[in-house]
Amino acid sequence: DLHAQYGGVFPEVASRQHVLAIYPVIDQALRQAHVELNDIDAIAATRGPGLPGSLVVGLNAAKGLALGSGKPLVGVNHLEGHVYSAWVYSGTSQPEPKFPLVALIVSGGHTELVLAQDHLQYQRLGATLDDAAGEAFDKVARLLGLGYPGGPAIQRAAETGNPRAYEFPRSRLDNSWDFSFSGLKTAVLRQVRTLEGHVSTLPVADLAASFQAAVVEVLVDKTLEAARTHQAAEILIAGGVSANQALRNTILNRSPLPVHIPPLSLCTDNAAMIAAAGYYRFVSGFRDGLEIDALPNWPLAG
Ligand code: KG4
Ligand code: ZN
Repeated sequence: DLHAQYGGVFPEVASRQHVLAIYPVIDQALRQAHVELNDIDAIAATRGPGLPGSLVVGLNAAKGLALGSGKPLVGVNHLEGHVYSAWVYSGTSQPEPKFPLVALIVSGGHTELVLAQDHLQYQRLGATLDDAAGEAFDKVARLLGLGYPGGPAIQRAAETGNPRAYEFPRSRLDNSWDFSFSGLKTAVLRQVRTLEGHVSTLPVADLAASFQAAVVEVLVDKTLEAARTHQAAEILIAGGVSANQALRNTILNRSPLPVHIPPLSLCTDNAAMIAAAGYYRFVSGFRDGLEIDALPNWPLAG
């Protein structure tokens, strides 16, 4: 609600709010899980990538807990956390993802296609050259006068729209696994400007549905193609945009391989996914010293 007033995350506001919330949230999480700090084996925290102010608050809280409790500290990459959201819910009622897998990480800050040969082994295949997929949703939502965050607002508006009403460009960037969404955003803007000269109310549902269809088609095409080329056993989709129902339905319908998509509660940013990634790092022997710093631009893999 705080960020909605500004139409996006305001870094100063976010980090100040983090300072206020972090210890009460940790207390509440432990209480709800019926455990005490003593029952914990290690403290995992996001080291990057992300907004410096927010990362510093989280990492320092984790360092304080590690120092005070004598537990080891494990720094986790935020994108790795999104990948491991698939291990939070699997294992009991659903099978765990199998390697090698192609992972599409689609969030507000990132759009990355990654090949994972095994746990914690990533090869970056491609990424967005301009806007992240979630960022495109947020910007187009603002353009259409829909609220923040834009992804859910576009999805809702698109439900009653025709995805074929407007033929928006699909930027394929042939012979590369990279993505580009700025041309699509500009095409929507141009369409809106043209329409504004002719109609009194914008066909928001049709615009939203056509935009969403263009994003989904490119994401799904590239992910399936990458999985085929790299002979992946399975596909994994994660990050805030993986909450998108059109994306979920399309990849599930079209993929010849098993697809893992986290339940909605684990798609957008959460601490459970960082704990899951931290667990796999911890059991494979990773430990970080208390001197580590936040890495706002930390890549998942080279
Ligand atoms: O992973 P996330 O929670 O935060 C980052 O790490 O960036 O992703 C947030 C992004 C926002 O851009 C939001 O608009 C988008 O995920 N998002 C969606 C949906 N729900 C959230 N995009 C499309 N459809 C949705 N249903
Ligand atoms: Zn995220």
